[in-house]
Amino acid sequence: MKAAVLTQLNEDLEIRDDVGLGELGDGDVHIQLVSSGVCHSDLSAQNGTIPSGTPCVLGHEGAGIVKEVGAGVTDLAAGDHVIVSFTPACRKCRMCLRGEANLCETMGVMASTPHFVIDGNPVVGFTGCGTFAEEMIIPEAAAVKVEEDIPLDIVSLIGCGVTTGVGAAINTADIRPGTSVVVFGCGGVGISAIQGARIAGAAEIVAVDMVDSKLEMAKKFGATHAVKPEDLEGAKLEVTRGEGFDYSLECIGNPATIRASFDAVRRGGTAVIVGVGKMTEMVQFSAFELFFNEKNLKGSMYGSANVRTDFDRLLRLWRQGKLDLEGMISRRIKVDDVNDAFRAMQAGEVIRSVIEF
Ligand code: APR
Ligand code: ZN
Repeated sequence: MKAAVLTQLNEDLEIRDDVGLGELGDGDVHIQLVSSGVCHSDLSAQNGTIPSGTPCVLGHEGAGIVKEVGAGVTDLAAGDHVIVSFTPACRKCRMCLRGEANLCETMGVMASTPHFVIDGNPVVGFTGCGTFAEEMIIPEAAAVKVEEDIPLDIVSLIGCGVTTGVGAAINTADIRPGTSVVVFGCGGVGISAIQGARIAGAAEIVAVDMVDSKLEMAKKFGATHAVKPEDLEGAKLEVTRGEGFDYSLECIGNPATIRASFDAVRRGGTAVIVGVGKMTEMVQFSAFELFFNEKNLKGSMYGSANVRTDFDRLLRLWRQGKLDLEGMISRRIKVDDVNDAFRAMQAGEVIRSVIEF
């Protein structure tokens, strides 16, 4: 089958048509992909920000139809429509039992178990997924059933960017109605965070991006103000009388904007870091300010979501017209064009490119 494979860091993905699948193990499901979003984290795997190893079949934001299930699978059957979750929710580990399924302990096992075969060798998919392929195998715990009337291109976005961004706003930050929010970065994740803040009832939502077209889009999705980074201080003064925002959501993954998002919140406010930066890059805080300003600095992994309940929650918001997913799809492409989609994302030209199989 066809798949886009990372064979060398900082090189174009190799589009191969001879990729195979390994054996379907106990508890695994075999999925025919229908659609996959192209997320910045795939680009981050390509440039080494997120270590994936090589070779690796990229893609982790997908939706498709179950072809067959392995022994012991009870929740899914052939023909079911599913969202691929890049973190499993095993419902048995300590994290899942404490209600923190987004931190499921079986994530590492999923990420390191190869399900693809290339040139006779076992090959992993990125985060254990690999949605830039026509078919894939994942553990049952990482496939979440959805109703069959929902178009799968819409559904695929839920698999990463939308859950990550909306979840950061409504779960991690837990934005209260009538508050002020600033969102750094207006890609697929940032636009989702803006929508989450809107859904949560924020009074003011200030979008920050360096690309003009992104700022225009941000307004369409609910930002009340949209500014370039150099104009943020002015917006902060106008919206919060200079006090600082109640919440900030950093959706870029850059040390400078992480620091800026911490600075943008008021004393006692909450800064949520959604973007994924490099393991070697550091962010500095003074030893005094952490105590004195009593700000909450929170990481947000997969929108602090429980995929078993939150995917459905998000799709119900979409059904009622409260979450715009159609509008987030900038381009529909074939998997052969994924390298162009990466370049368009780097140039700030798209919110999401979606691969159709
Ligand atoms: N200041 C302002 N905006 C910036 C800056 C900056 N220094 N650097 C990048 N941006 C903007 C880009 O113009 C773009 O609109 O941030 C946005 C990032 O969007 P995408 O590249 O589409 O990335 P996305 O898929 O939204 O992911 C964002 O979240 O999950 C993580 O790994 C992911 O770190 C990535 C982040
Ligand atoms: Zn992603």
